[in-house]
Amino acid sequence: MASLPKEVLALAEDSSTPDLGLVPSAEHGLDKRDKLAVDHEDRGDIEIPMFLVPHLNVCSRYQLILKDLPRHHSRRVYMSMSKRMDGLIISIKKEVRLKLSSMMRKFDNERDFQHHLCKIALYGRLHLAPLEEDNIKHVLDIGTGTGIWAIEFAEQYPQAKVIGTDLSPIQPEFVPPNLSFEVDDVDDDWVYTHPFEYIHGRLMVFAFSDPLAVFRKAFNALSPGGYFEMQDLCSPIRSFDDSLNGSAMFRCSNMIIQACQKRGIDLTVPKRYKEMMQSVGFVDVKEVIIEWPVGTWAKSEYHKRIGAWFKKDMEIGAEGIIMGLFTRLLGMTKEQVAVIVEDVKREMNDKSIHAYEPFYVVYGRKPE
Ligand SMILES: C[S@@+](CC[C@H](N)C(=O)[O-])C[C@H]1O[C@@H](n2cnc3c(N)ncnc32)[C@H](O)[C@@H]1O
Repeated sequence: MASLPKEVLALAEDSSTPDLGLVPSAEHGLDKRDKLAVDHEDRGDIEIPMFLVPHLNVCSRYQLILKDLPRHHSRRVYMSMSKRMDGLIISIKKEVRLKLSSMMRKFDNERDFQHHLCKIALYGRLHLAPLEEDNIKHVLDIGTGTGIWAIEFAEQYPQAKVIGTDLSPIQPEFVPPNLSFEVDDVDDDWVYTHPFEYIHGRLMVFAFSDPLAVFRKAFNALSPGGYFEMQDLCSPIRSFDDSLNGSAMFRCSNMIIQACQKRGIDLTVPKRYKEMMQSVGFVDVKEVIIEWPVGTWAKSEYHKRIGAWFKKDMEIGAEGIIMGLFTRLLGMTKEQVAVIVEDVKREMNDKSIHAYEPFYVVYGRKPE
């Protein structure tokens, strides 16, 4: 390690762990989580430690730090840093963080923000399927995106060989040795040299034109006893009271559904994942539905935290998506869309509107 650059050494030396504001998993559980309810006393907001947001992308960071090093050094540093990882993030000194932050690719950070949001909702877990570590030899992550889920999974299950596939080769180069990425289209035939014990897909609803066909392929690609798990948000946005009635948020959510329908994509399909999995042959199919509030109007700390992150996620990404969909598929002008976006942004900060979207986690087992 002595010949490595100072900032890499600093990374390895620093033992402090920034607080990401995640709910610890130890004494909490999804089964015991609070019911979604309104915080009538308005006990305040949850602040997301935004100074961390540009640093959440572990993979980009590895790449930035390591890109100028010879390969054999890179691997050594990767191993040494991953040992020091504490859950989500390796600790790094402030000045290194600042330096790296200016170099981060914004796009990746936006996507990885969603990864952390999903983990908050699952109390820090990557999956809910009851995996037995010793039996997990081959794992597939479809539509892996930046690969951050696959990276963390590969670190958590070092005995498993993990493959992450995506249409776009945007994944980092420096990853755990038991992980590889492949460019692949889930709609093509799945050609793998071995069966998998676990297949995972997350935030794929925008990608699926025929989810049932994908589920069938997943079933065929699993070994007997293997698990398939999907995690997705289900449109439209909703409320358990009438506070969403007549709102721009509700209109906008339905317009997004309509626009996607024109492309053959059904954003309401996650509520049917369970029956779809059963129909292709999965057994013991479990469905867990977690409400993601928009904003911090909810009472429990758990929902408040999800709500703060979900609102931020929407603020980061929704405008671009809405602008693209509505101008291209609904024939609207940029100015018309801008008005809707402004109304939605205002409503997201209005705590009298109790909007949420359900996040579906559905998993099933291929029979022996
Ligand atoms: C919202 S991202 C989710 C990324 C990742 N699963 C996660 O949760 O962090 C959806 C990903 O699906 C990929 N995708 C879209 N259509 C696909 C297809 N037909 N085959 C494979 N990947 C696809 C996109 O490139 C994108 O990276």
